[in-house]
Amino acid sequence: MDKSLENKLIKSIGEKRYNHSIRVMETAIELAHTYNIDIEKIKTAAILHDCAKIIDETYLLKRASDFDIILDACMEYNHELIHGPLGAKIAKEEYGIKDSEILDAIYYHTTGREKMSILDKIIYMADYIEPYRNFPGVEEVRRLAFDNLNKALLLAMEKTIIFLIERNKVIYPDTIRARNYLIIESRFDK
Ligand SMILES: [Fe+2]
Ligand SMILES: [Fe+2]
Repeated sequence: MDKSLENKLIKSIGEKRYNHSIRVMETAIELAHTYNIDIEKIKTAAILHDCAKIIDETYLLKRASDFDIILDACMEYNHELIHGPLGAKIAKEEYGIKDSEILDAIYYHTTGREKMSILDKIIYMADYIEPYRNFPGVEEVRRLAFDNLNKALLLAMEKTIIFLIERNKVIYPDTIRARNYLIIESRFDK
């Protein structure tokens, strides 16, 4: 990414979130090497995945409406869910990203989705396990991520779903679909 876009990103999400994005990128590159995936798209998707992580709620909602994002009931209830779809729009319109695989990986990085692409999977996982993440159970997912990406994703999603249930929070339907699909997809694995 060129310097001016990098500065724009730091300005809009702040230094702390930007540093997180760098760690996600580094982790995503390690995963890409492990699974023999080309790193160019991964680098772009990772650095921009949180480009819509706007701290100011009012401004976040304004941006979402500027980009004609229709908030469903879950997004209305949990504004945290907006930054994926909004990020895909901002990446396209303001950072000049045209590749739909990159835009999809940004769009679905918080929830996952049915039939996740390898790029979706690596961004989701890197965001979950980047080195500063230290919630209970992250070590197990981190180890598994470099051994069996689908199993690691399944575990990460199950932990997320349990976390949400314990806190009486909504579970985004795409996360359920992602988990179902991972199970169906792995039915022939040993
Ligand atoms: Fe995010
Ligand atoms: Fe993130």
